[in-house]
Amino acid sequence: MPTVAEPAILVFGATGSLGRHVLDGLLERGTPAAAVTAAGRNEGRLAELASAGFATVRVDLTDPAAVAEVVARHA
Ligand SMILES: NC(=O)c1ccc[n+]([C@@H]2O[C@H](COP(=O)([O-])OP(=O)(O)OC[C@H]3O[C@@H](n4cnc5c(N)ncnc54)[C@H](OP(=O)(O)O)[C@@H]3O)[C@@H](O)[C@H]2O)c1
Repeated sequence: MPTVAEPAILVFGATGSLGRHVLDGLLERGTPAAAVTAAGRNEGRLAELASAGFATVRVDLTDPAAVAEVVARHA
């Protein structure tokens, strides 16, 4: 159960090919875009996902502290 007002589902690699399929699959299953945080680095793709209603976060997976902070907000 989220303890803060963050979407419940966090998708790393959301800006990539598999991530696109994951996001499409969630929408097809009836998950609202606003219930999903799409994580990646590509600013242009993140902007597109934001326009589609997803929450977005730019995070580099090589930065453990940044990853931990993002995950903690979705725990
Ligand atoms: N596509 C397939 O059919 C398939 C099948 C089997 C296995 N895989 C494996 O699944 C993984 C993803 O495949 P894909 O096709 O989706 O690749 P992709 O299109 O190149 O996407 C890679 C994703 O990972 C993100 N990423 C990479 N390095 C990152 C970093 N340091 N910090 C944050 N995000 C990072 C990219 O973010 P940005 O673009 O925003 O930088 C992008 O969202 C790969 O390991 C691939 O080998 C893929």
